[in-house]
Amino acid sequence: MVTAFAPGKCILFGEHAVVYGEPAVAVSIDAGVEVTITESNKWILEGMPFEPSRHPHISHIINDIFQYRGNPLKIDIRSSLFSAAGLGSSAALSNSMGAALHQFTKPNEPLDLISLAKIGHSAEANAQQGRASPTDTATSALGGCIVVSGQKVRGTRHVFDATLETPEGSRSWSVCEATLPEIEDTWIVLGFTGIGSPTGKMVEGVSELIGKEPKKMDEIRAIGNITSSGLDSLSAGDMEGVGSAMNSCHERLRNLRVSCPELENLISAVESHSLGAKLTGAGGGGCMVSLTRHPKRVAECIEIAGGMPLVSKLGSGGARIL
Ligand code: PMV
Repeated sequence: MVTAFAPGKCILFGEHAVVYGEPAVAVSIDAGVEVTITESNKWILEGMPFEPSRHPHISHIINDIFQYRGNPLKIDIRSSLFSAAGLGSSAALSNSMGAALHQFTKPNEPLDLISLAKIGHSAEANAQQGRASPTDTATSALGGCIVVSGQKVRGTRHVFDATLETPEGSRSWSVCEATLPEIEDTWIVLGFTGIGSPTGKMVEGVSELIGKEPKKMDEIRAIGNITSSGLDSLSAGDMEGVGSAMNSCHERLRNLRVSCPELENLISAVESHSLGAKLTGAGGGGCMVSLTRHPKRVAECIEIAGGMPLVSKLGSGGARIL
């Protein structure tokens, strides 16, 4: 029996602008997905017969990547992430499955996290008709703080380049790591609105808005600048600076019309106890994130306002065998 874990992620800065080549900064979170694999006499997933067509991420990893031809497997999944909430739950599932199958088939070979990030990205792309940025899978595999951009970003270490043939043509990204200082007294608290985040629709909405109002490209460029200064503050351990960059980023995202009343409600509920707060991920539902020194109070405020809270340190470890 083998069990692996891969964390979810939270985008601190740069969502939507990353689609236009600006950098995005994401941190891994404490919650994630655990996959347990046991040899069995039948293929079983979550106690039911395994139907590959219903689980494209898992079947792509088993059949196309590992080309596994061994005995049937019983696969069990435990997730502590909200799903369809912009926390990278499908990337965490792919990475956790990839890590578990690696350990199962090659127990003497150490797990290479960069290869795992590429496996996860391939599974995501395969399941999403060729459209997937490497942000979620890289952050989940490597852990810590990941910066994804059209080019290498100042003050970061280049880890690998990802390319993908999408229906809109070839896309490529530089995946870099930023060093996080010791952050003892500050947490992030995610607040799920309970509404699934429709990433594709939101990305399309921004593209249509820019088509109609080209001036909105200023918002994209402004998010790029805010992301760079937020990253500088984060690397220097200046949490007040990170919080104010988060607030500015949210204003720009609002101008791109990707916020919604439910996100605004949770953000205003936590404002007085937060260093900064913004939507995280695609918007239109999904989650907001607060940066705070009072995580319990913020979690309570989110619950009272009708949301579901999740408290995490910033940038815990990446994928691992348990
Ligand atoms: O829904 P999420 O958390 O995966 O965020 C999507 C981030 C976007 O910038 C909106 C889209 C993208 O592909 O980067």
